[in-house]
Amino acid sequence: MSKSNSSNKISRRSFLKGMGSGILSTATLTTGGLISKEAAARILGPEGETISGRTVITLKVNGKARRVAVEPRTTLLSALRDRLDITGPKEGCDRGHCGACTVLMDGKAVLACMTLAVDARGKDITTVEGLSQDDSLSPLQKAFVEKDGLMCGFCTPGLVVAATALLKENPNPSLDDIKEGLAGNLCRCGTYPKVFEAVQTAAKIMRKGG
Ligand code: FES
Ligand code: FES
Repeated sequence: MSKSNSSNKISRRSFLKGMGSGILSTATLTTGGLISKEAAARILGPEGETISGRTVITLKVNGKARRVAVEPRTTLLSALRDRLDITGPKEGCDRGHCGACTVLMDGKAVLACMTLAVDARGKDITTVEGLSQDDSLSPLQKAFVEKDGLMCGFCTPGLVVAATALLKENPNPSLDDIKEGLAGNLCRCGTYPKVFEAVQTAAKIMRKGG
C-alpha cells in the first residue's frame, strides 16, 4: 500500500510502528495518512501535559513549531525521526560515534542521538531538510551533487549539516580545516575526497555571494 494512495487506510508500516510506540505517538498515525499532522498536534494536547510518562513539548524544527510527546529519555533523534517523521538525520551508531544524526541547534552542529529532546526546547533546530530554500538546494547541497560527494548517501545529511556549520564559522577553510571540521562524520563508502572538494567548491561560491 503506497503512502500516496492510502489517505484513509492504515499502512502496514504505520500499523507496526504504532504497535511499537504506543497510542501517544500520534505523529505515527499520520505516516499512514490516518489524520493530518495538524490534527495529530491537536490530539497531543497542550504543552506540558503528561500522559503515561510522556510529556508534550514543542520543538522548533526547520522554522516550524512542532508538538511532540516524549519521555525524559527520548533523544532528539528519536523525536525527529520516530515522532515527527523528519528522517533526514540518520541513526547510524546511536552513540555519538558516526555523525550521521548531525543537526544544527541554534546554528551549531550537534549530534541528535546524544541530545535529549527536552533539552532542545526553545532552540532553533535545523535538519538537512531545512537547508534548502524555496525548494532550491543550498550552494553546499548543490556542490555535493555536482562533485559526486555521495555514494549510498547514508552519511550525507550529517555531512552536509556539519559542513554547513563549518562554513558558517569559517567561510574560507583550508583543506586541513575541512578535514578537522568533518572528522566526526564517518562515511563507510569512503567519499571523503569528493566531500572535501564539494565543501571547498561551495565555500568559493558562497564567498562570492552565491
Ligand atoms: S547516530 Fe548519532 S553519532 Fe551516530
Ligand atoms: S556515502 Fe555511503 S556512507 Fe557515506
